[in-house]
Amino acid sequence: MEKLLLSQLLCLLLSPLIPPIHTQRSNQLDELRRLGLGNVVNVPFFSDVPQRNYDFIVVGGGAAGCTLAARLSENPNWSVFLIEAGGVENIVHQVPLLAAHLQSTASNWGYNSTPQRHACRGMPDNKCALPRGKVLGGTSSINYMIYNRGNRRDFDAWAAAGNPGWSYDDVLPYFLRSEHAQLQGLEQSPYHNRSGPLSVEDVRYRSRLAHAYIRAAQEAGHPRTDYNGESQLGVSYVQATTLKGRRHSAFRAYIEPIRSRRRNLHILTLARVTRVLIDAASKSAYGVELTHQGRSFKVKARKEVILSAGAFNSPQLLMLSGIGPEDNLKAIGVPLIKALPVGKRMFDHMCHFGPTFVTNTTGQTLFAAQLGAPVVKEFLLGRADTILSSIGGVETLTFIKVPSGKSPASQPDVELIQVAGSLASDDGTALAKGANFKPEIYEKMYKDLTLTQQDHFSFLIMHFKPASVGRLWLHNRNPLEWPRIDPKYFSAAADVENLLEGIKEAIRISQMPAMQAVGTRLLDKPVPGCESYEFATDDYWRCSIRTLSYTLHHQVATCRMGAESDPTTVVNPQLQVHGMRKLRVVDTSIIPFPPTAHTNAAAFMIGEKAADMIRSEWS
Ligand SMILES: Cc1cc2nc3c(=O)[nH]c(=O)nc-3n(C[C@H](O)[C@H](O)[C@H](O)COP(=O)(O)OP(=O)(O)OC[C@H]3O[C@@H](n4cnc5c(N)ncnc54)[C@H](O)[C@@H]3O)c2cc1C
Ligand SMILES: *[C@@H]1O[C@H](CO)[C@@H](O)[C@H](O)[C@H]1NC(C)=O
Ligand SMILES: *[C@@H]1O[C@H](CO)[C@@H](O)[C@H](O)[C@H]1NC(C)=O
Ligand SMILES: *[C@@H]1O[C@H](CO)[C@@H](O)[C@H](O)[C@H]1NC(C)=O
Repeated sequence: MEKLLLSQLLCLLLSPLIPPIHTQRSNQLDELRRLGLGNVVNVPFFSDVPQRNYDFIVVGGGAAGCTLAARLSENPNWSVFLIEAGGVENIVHQVPLLAAHLQSTASNWGYNSTPQRHACRGMPDNKCALPRGKVLGGTSSINYMIYNRGNRRDFDAWAAAGNPGWSYDDVLPYFLRSEHAQLQGLEQSPYHNRSGPLSVEDVRYRSRLAHAYIRAAQEAGHPRTDYNGESQLGVSYVQATTLKGRRHSAFRAYIEPIRSRRRNLHILTLARVTRVLIDAASKSAYGVELTHQGRSFKVKARKEVILSAGAFNSPQLLMLSGIGPEDNLKAIGVPLIKALPVGKRMFDHMCHFGPTFVTNTTGQTLFAAQLGAPVVKEFLLGRADTILSSIGGVETLTFIKVPSGKSPASQPDVELIQVAGSLASDDGTALAKGANFKPEIYEKMYKDLTLTQQDHFSFLIMHFKPASVGRLWLHNRNPLEWPRIDPKYFSAAADVENLLEGIKEAIRISQMPAMQAVGTRLLDKPVPGCESYEFATDDYWRCSIRTLSYTLHHQVATCRMGAESDPTTVVNPQLQVHGMRKLRVVDTSIIPFPPTAHTNAAAFMIGEKAADMIRSEWS
């Protein structure tokens, strides 16, 4: 077995790219067979034959859905059916370094934004890529594995906006319930739990540049902190959802350990839910319609239907089922059951890719050329400190205030995500493709770094409270088509100013003694399209921000949670769809405001909390 996997992984890594796997399942399997991977992919074998009836149907086996299904099925008296559109993870998903590559596989839905007027100018037609996980484990199986919960004030604001039970003190126990922390120096912290299902650990591969950066950030006045602890403000090594250096997705954490014993949990993969079955008179959900291997099924729920299909697909399913904005449903010919502002609002964290800094060190930056047989072998034999355990290169996070930020003093405005590489790390392949960057960006800015194997590192600059508000809608009633997604990135100029100030702080830190000791200097290749501005002036960076736009995929609020009297909301604080019976939404689409965090940890928290609410209601 070990030998088989080794040869297969080697063939993948040395290629050095995973070729794109098409979304059609037959193509996918052909492609995998061609790669000699057919037998490690257990895609068709992870399914139960659906029964006619279950107590609970959970639609979508993502971060929140896997958590919820695992917790609900702890009660042996309840039957639970978990339906997932994608397949099952294989060894490649478990290699943290390959995070970006997964976006070129069938494990990504592959959405794009509509053409953006104020952003994404480095992309063909100004269309940003909006990846999403399509696999059991959902986006937690393809993401960058950064574990980050958010600021106390985020959740207190949820509670204040008509959501009792969602303040920080209310949700912290649910974050803790999911967490199995192994974090050096935080063994005694009351902010971490050591016995939950989801592994959170330090990344054991660390470059010298990360250490130098941590020192430089402190020299610049940013204290060392645990960004999941008492105060977020400051600099930290990243905390990752990995176990012994391998990705720990919702599938690995919550489903795999119980799979063989939990007879009351049925799972169907490669099955697409197309509609929620609703009795229009009583406004009561009683099941779902799904397609699986070309056949259509109806499955009924005695107690509840729960949508955990993510921030794009949960709103899509509501609208396909007659719950949504009246005008949109009318335009596509879906009979209205309940008018609600589904998809009317969407927040995201649009970031800037860069700046990149070169250093005079050697061997500290991730390059594809380092991926040889010895590294792969050590990883497969269980070593957790090789470059393959680097979470796509992310090493440190710095949470900062910026002058134009509007949040209170204890709440960060901007995050600096420091990465041990750039588009040069994979020769302009997966990372650039994942972002939908035009080839000229790699060619003109980064290719020389690959050719010379020049050490360097980059930042992603992220701001937390965008003023730009996007939306999502359906342009027809075909359930197999994509929703239209218009994030309206940077339509508010204030968002660009926040990021500009973040870039300036990254540059200031690079000038501190600890960074200067490794000869750090700004990569001065101008961004294609921004050559007319004097390099590194404010206007140059503004152009760069609108060109090298790079989302960290934290879309929220498409099924916003709030009081029924609030016309911007879709679900109540128990996550029940307003005015409907036996229907809930349990995933990141319910998050009412953009959080001061990445969104994966919150998805697990929402799954845990929903399980408790459902339990107390039906027990
Ligand atoms: C590339 C990328 C990197 C990221 N990196 C990080 C990070 O480092 N840290 C972090 O905190 N966050 C990160 N995020 C965001 C985070 O991973 C997500 O916000 C979170 O995992 C979403 O969880 P969810 O449960 O709401 O939805 P998902 O995990 O997306 O789950 C939805 C599931 O529903 C399934 N589904 C959808 N429609 C249907 C249907 N009709 N029928 C059946 N099944 C369906 C999907 O296939 C999917 O499995 C990243 C996101 C992306 C895309
Ligand atoms: C399951 O049902 C049995 C019999 O009705 C009951 O005694 C038991 O408490 C139930 N278990 C749970 C966890 O609700
Ligand atoms: C830690 O997680 C376990 C398992 O989910 C849970 O039972 C326990 O209450 C949690 N501990 C704390 C301190 O939250
Ligand atoms: C890197 O640059 C620093 C600062 O100029 C210098 O002190 C150091 O010796 C250089 N290191 C190497 C390996 O060139």
